[in-house]
Amino acid sequence: MRVSVIGAGYVGLVTGVGLASLGHTVRVGERDSSKLAKLQSGVSPIYETGLQDALDSAMAAEMISFHATNHDAISGADVVLLALPTPPAADGSADLSYVTEALIDLAPSIPPGLVVANKSTVPVGTEAHFQDMLDTMGCDAIVVSNPEFLREGSALHDFHNPDRIVIGTTHPRAADVMTQLYEKLDAPVIVTDPASSEMIKYASNAYLATRITFANAIANLCETVGADAVAVLEGMGLDKRIGSQFLKPGPGFGGSCFPKDTLALVSIAEESGYDFSLLRGVIAVNELQSERIVSKVASVVPSMSEARIALWGLTFKAGTDDTRESPALKVASRLQALGATLLAYDPEAQDTGTEAIPLASSALGAAEGADVLLIATEWPEFRDVDLVELRQVMSGAAIVDARNLLDPKAVDSAGLSYMGVGR
Ligand code: UGA
Repeated sequence: MRVSVIGAGYVGLVTGVGLASLGHTVRVGERDSSKLAKLQSGVSPIYETGLQDALDSAMAAEMISFHATNHDAISGADVVLLALPTPPAADGSADLSYVTEALIDLAPSIPPGLVVANKSTVPVGTEAHFQDMLDTMGCDAIVVSNPEFLREGSALHDFHNPDRIVIGTTHPRAADVMTQLYEKLDAPVIVTDPASSEMIKYASNAYLATRITFANAIANLCETVGADAVAVLEGMGLDKRIGSQFLKPGPGFGGSCFPKDTLALVSIAEESGYDFSLLRGVIAVNELQSERIVSKVASVVPSMSEARIALWGLTFKAGTDDTRESPALKVASRLQALGATLLAYDPEAQDTGTEAIPLASSALGAAEGADVLLIATEWPEFRDVDLVELRQVMSGAAIVDARNLLDPKAVDSAGLSYMGVGR
């Protein structure tokens, strides 16, 4: 099929490259000129496992091309996928302006009967709203909801191995086009009405965020009753009705999706007259989780204003270069506000956002002269650092492991003190 993807962010680029590798001809529209230039020269502007290689192959086979205008991108398309940001507005609701602008821009170029599928996370009822918009502009297009469930860091793997494909439309031809698009993927396809499709995405992210928060709350309780959260959560996860995924305690969930989507679902509920107090609680508990990490650090230094802290990890999780809504940065800026001096290391993050955090070029380099080491992201290479050498370069001996990454016994044997989450 001939597919057009509007937006070359994480979702758009991974989906475009993935579809190209399934044998579709893909034209991607990207209006950011520096990103576009990189893509046109065959360089992925984001770090994502396997993405550069897959992009190289798709470009060599001439299955993917990148275009500055939406008009060029949708030329000859059988289906258009919208993969644009829906950031939180000031009141927590999803800001649909990027998608709306793109539809207004696309409208004059849309041929009759074109299927326009929205991949961004949008409030329930948005498909109907977009359909109305295009109808009013005189476009004969069919708008479909097709949420994505990719995780950053394993997005390409997730594209090729989805748990399910969700298609929200009541239009049989659009359902056929979308089913055909993904037919080479081995996954159950759910065709449902657009509102339910849009809700599946929010409900899934909100549930996963709730699970993580539940795990954090259990870990916090384990600390006060003297239980080991790692053993407790493993024991829980072995119950097949519960399962072991997304039960790792840590500094709270972050990233560009869970914080935004939980807020948006609370706002959707409020507008519909339902008080989603459970989810409001999840957001509130998550906010406090990063504070608990700050308190752990405070408990091992005599004075925060004189403390030198090594920070390992800046990204919101391992396997990505993304620092958006990163718990690591949240904890770091709080520590800095309390007067601590930080030196950080992250294998991938080049950018610490608005926070001015000096960077070292290695994990041990960041730890040199530090009173405390704080592990904020679960990069596997941190596990391989020689603990005896670490003890030698640090001034102090305290490790606060916000990801339960290290083995407490090994830390102890190296003459360092250990404080994890829930143990
Ligand atoms: C999340 C969902 O997992 C994807 O299915 C979804 O498509 C995506 O949002 C989206 O809506 O676009 P992502 O934000 O890439 O994906 O990251 P996750 O792997 O879900 O992690 C989110 C946060 O939860 C991270 O800060 C991570 O460290 C934290 N987390 C995750 C935990 O603290 N404990 C866990 O057990 C799992």
